[in-house]
Amino acid sequence: MAGKDFPYNFDVRADPVFQESIKPFIEDELLRLKQFDEKRIAWAKANLPPDYKVNYLFHSHAFRVADDMRRTAAHMGQPEHVCENLYWAMLAHDIGKSRLPVDLWDMIKKPENAIKAQRRSHTDEGEKAVGAALDFKHSFIDLMTDIMRNHHEQMDGNGHRGLKGSELSPAVRLACIIESFDGYAIARPHFGDRDISIEGVLKRMREEKGAAHYDMNLFEAFAETKMTGYKNVKDMSKPWTSLKS
Ligand SMILES: [Fe+2]
Ligand SMILES: [Fe+2]
Repeated sequence: MAGKDFPYNFDVRADPVFQESIKPFIEDELLRLKQFDEKRIAWAKANLPPDYKVNYLFHSHAFRVADDMRRTAAHMGQPEHVCENLYWAMLAHDIGKSRLPVDLWDMIKKPENAIKAQRRSHTDEGEKAVGAALDFKHSFIDLMTDIMRNHHEQMDGNGHRGLKGSELSPAVRLACIIESFDGYAIARPHFGDRDISIEGVLKRMREEKGAAHYDMNLFEAFAETKMTGYKNVKDMSKPWTSLKS
């Protein structure tokens, strides 16, 4: 597990190893994810009804959630370099998906447990891909793989690997919330007429999932960020500075 604080002890913007080796790796992987999305669209066109739309694109999801990480951290008053570290780490969180079969992701019905478990193995696949490409120690790699491995956990230990909240770093806890939100906010066929507005998704997360799933201190910081929008980091940096609870 990573430390108890957000990632302070490095700055991706000024780190030559990150700039020369790690950043190009992430950029290549995002391109690969984009190509994978294109394959999914082609697969869905050939195999699913003509009105099916692949609207949960992994490539754009990566940018949305990375942006939400950065904005929420800024809203909480975290220094800029921490926000940037979190942004880049979150961008890479789902790269393992491109290692799994293309026909696993798009379906009319809610996926069964076996399919869900196979999908969740993207967390391991991502970590393997990092290990194969970046064979050296670096604090950013620790952060990136922590988020990659653990972003489908729950505070009560009923998530993908069964880790409890006390075993999850603040960066992972926030990633779990932001990941969940984005998943619920994109229309899918099995959602029916569920309210997927920002308010609707936050309400559902707060009332139906709550503290069993999420660190509610971080959840409210994220919810406030989503509701007010990110305008001025300095104006909005007051209430969310403690991560001790
Ligand atoms: Fe994921
Ligand atoms: Fe994700």
